[in-house]
Amino acid sequence: MPTIETVFSPALIQHHALENRSVVIIDVLRATSSICYALFEGARSLMPVSTPEDCLRYRTLGCLCAAERNGLKLDGFDMGNSPLEFSRDLVQGRDIAITTTNGTYALLESRSANRIFIGSFLNLDLLAHYLMMENQDITLVCAGWKNKVNLEDSLFAGALASKLNDFEIRCDSTLMAIELWENSKDRLYEVVDRSSHARRFKRLGVDDLPVCLDLNRCPVVPEYLGDRIVAV
Ligand code: MLT
Repeated sequence: MPTIETVFSPALIQHHALENRSVVIIDVLRATSSICYALFEGARSLMPVSTPEDCLRYRTLGCLCAAERNGLKLDGFDMGNSPLEFSRDLVQGRDIAITTTNGTYALLESRSANRIFIGSFLNLDLLAHYLMMENQDITLVCAGWKNKVNLEDSLFAGALASKLNDFEIRCDSTLMAIELWENSKDRLYEVVDRSSHARRFKRLGVDDLPVCLDLNRCPVVPEYLGDRIVAV
């Protein structure tokens, strides 16, 4: 029976062996939501990079460049990290270099994994189906906020874990995430709207909760292969 475990912050990855396991990167607000949205809108691939400088180097290769820090789009980039910026007319057929505060960091910290997938509420059901078909050991990695645990990523981990029937739950963090989901799933927006990141968005004038909480809006399964994320 395959196993499932949950890591609530990239700072905890060091305590987990990712080799021979499939990792799901979770950054609901907003990197993994943006990645699912971009691929569903026809982007060819997304290259996660560590710094804005690394990101801009891809421009010479004809890539679009997306950069966000502290919730804001960086000047001089084609887009920040709002899913709605990755519109079909802009991204179709394009490769996109992307760097964000938490999501791309969590992915790059997970590269020892056998496989790396991208999870968000936008691809919840298809991703769950795909992972059950794959039947591999899974580690859910929450991006959080600057290595702190956050509500929305932990909530999604519970939503995904609750759909992965026949997986042996290996840790209390997965049980906690499932309990959080079971107690929140009928009032998802209300619960996430109380999160620290939602409050940060209000201060910044960002209104991305509706698109990031739109369940199954973007049925794709993004996987990190080599140096880029593509829809499998
Ligand atoms: C990210 O996506 O890495 C961050 O969580 C912040 C954001 O996009 O607002």
